[in-house]
Amino acid sequence: MQLLIYIFGFFSIKLAYAQTGITQPLFDDCGPSVVCISRYGNVLPYHFYRNVTTMNAVTTFGDTTVGSGNKLQDVKLADFIVYDREKGLKILGSNPSYEYVFAVSEAVHEAPVYVPSQNKLYLSQLAPGYLPQLVIDLNKNPPTLSEFLSDPPVYAPNGGTFHNGKIIWGASGGNRSIGGSEQRVSLRILDPETNKTTNLVNNYFGYYFNTIDDLAVHPTTGDIWFTDPQYSWFNDLTDTPPQLPCASYRYNGSSGAVVVVDDSIGQPNGIAFTPDGSIVYISDTASVSASVDPADGHPGSTFNTTHRRTIYAFDVSADGAHAYNKRAIYLAPGFVPDGLKVAANGYIVTGCGRGVDILDPSGQLLVTIQTNYTVQNFAWTGPELKTLWLMGNGGISKVEWELAGQVLK
Ligand SMILES: *[C@@H]1O[C@H](CO)[C@@H](O)[C@H](O)[C@H]1NC(C)=O
Ligand SMILES: *[C@@H]1O[C@H](CO)[C@@H](O)[C@H](O)[C@H]1NC(C)=O
Ligand SMILES: *[C@@H]1O[C@H](CO)[C@@H](O)[C@H](O)[C@H]1NC(C)=O
Ligand SMILES: *[C@@H]1O[C@H](CO)[C@@H](O)[C@H](O)[C@H]1NC(C)=O
Ligand SMILES: *[C@@H]1O[C@H](CO)[C@@H](O)[C@H](O)[C@H]1NC(C)=O
Ligand SMILES: *[C@@H]1O[C@H](CO)[C@@H](O)[C@H](O)[C@H]1NC(C)=O
Repeated sequence: MQLLIYIFGFFSIKLAYAQTGITQPLFDDCGPSVVCISRYGNVLPYHFYRNVTTMNAVTTFGDTTVGSGNKLQDVKLADFIVYDREKGLKILGSNPSYEYVFAVSEAVHEAPVYVPSQNKLYLSQLAPGYLPQLVIDLNKNPPTLSEFLSDPPVYAPNGGTFHNGKIIWGASGGNRSIGGSEQRVSLRILDPETNKTTNLVNNYFGYYFNTIDDLAVHPTTGDIWFTDPQYSWFNDLTDTPPQLPCASYRYNGSSGAVVVVDDSIGQPNGIAFTPDGSIVYISDTASVSASVDPADGHPGSTFNTTHRRTIYAFDVSADGAHAYNKRAIYLAPGFVPDGLKVAANGYIVTGCGRGVDILDPSGQLLVTIQTNYTVQNFAWTGPELKTLWLMGNGGISKVEWELAGQVLK
């Protein structure tokens, strides 16, 4: 009797310690620098832990330690992490490659726009007082990176797209006198054949916009939809504190009207349409924020892990005028979903901290491209739009894969 109790006691202690359902294998190698994660790593062995991200230390899934101290080194170091084996490996194709091409400053690098007729990729570097943009000449082998100054200059484009043979910039800088003229947050057009720029809209009934950040042209109406968060004040790119709430707008080129389409998002940032224009995605990067109190000056911004970093989908009304039925579809784990674009096949692509995430339209993560710098934005280039250039703080890199971008008209 005494012995039996002892044996049962022994087994019940064992059972209390057994962990069930552990995902096995957690991952396996499934291509050149490609790691496939099983079932999204749903059940990790105890004790596991992932540090929260800070501005200076953005963590990735591979930074998680599992089973009391094992690091996921293979996951951390892979160029590509596949979460959906069927769809993910199809995106990558048989010979995916990742290449770090240009070392650049720690400043934000944004607004990439590919001009197919020139085979050049224009982009911006955001720094107080810095006026040129950058251009990558893809006709050269290897490609070259140089400064580009338009006439007149455009201060701090934070988003851009190609439309009707021109580049549309969302210029996010404001300064009473810089480079010989006044600059205000505005929508600008650059003609890449002449290098001349013109202004489309620079105010909302007399008020300055805060930070025109990212923009997209609706495929049927041609209206320019843009987001207006507050980063230019935080980051000292404008000399005036915000005069307007954070909001997203639609600029109607025929009437000139600027109409609000959403004012519910904390810091509206990336914006993109599905190829048919029936859905608009807008990201909320409120996790990266700061005080707008003018007394606090330009505070920079910090990452707060309990604040929103979510992509929302909205239906676009049939007349192209309104966005409604807002729903959350993706909470970015490691950092904020910054640049946002939709591939030709409808997959959603977003620059999120140390790389780029690819989602299906329901918001399921299919693949992550991993970088060793924080990515702000990206653009497709090449005859088939199957090369993806990524850019951010300290790097510009390039991916060859099978996921084509939308042809921008
Ligand atoms: C979390 O960050 C701390 C401080 O940088 C570090 O000591 C620790 O090893 C990190 N933990 C993990 C699991 O990476
Ligand atoms: C305007 O830009 C110049 C050049 O960077 C800078 O010295 C000046 O402080 C800026 N003005 C304001 C009001 O921010
Ligand atoms: C536009 O700028 C580029 C790069 O600086 C230059 O090569 C080109 O000649 C310029 N085009 C015109 C029409 O000035
Ligand atoms: C993050 O935000 C929460 C809620 O506003 C706040 O309580 C917390 O102190 C913030 N954390 C940091 C690190 O700023
Ligand atoms: C844009 O403005 C024109 C002219 O007022 C109007 O006919 C059209 O309906 C507007 N577009 C949208 C999407 O509201
Ligand atoms: C990222 O990797 C590239 C190529 O391996 C290297 O040249 C660069 O210095 C690295 N950048 C950082 C921030 O580690």
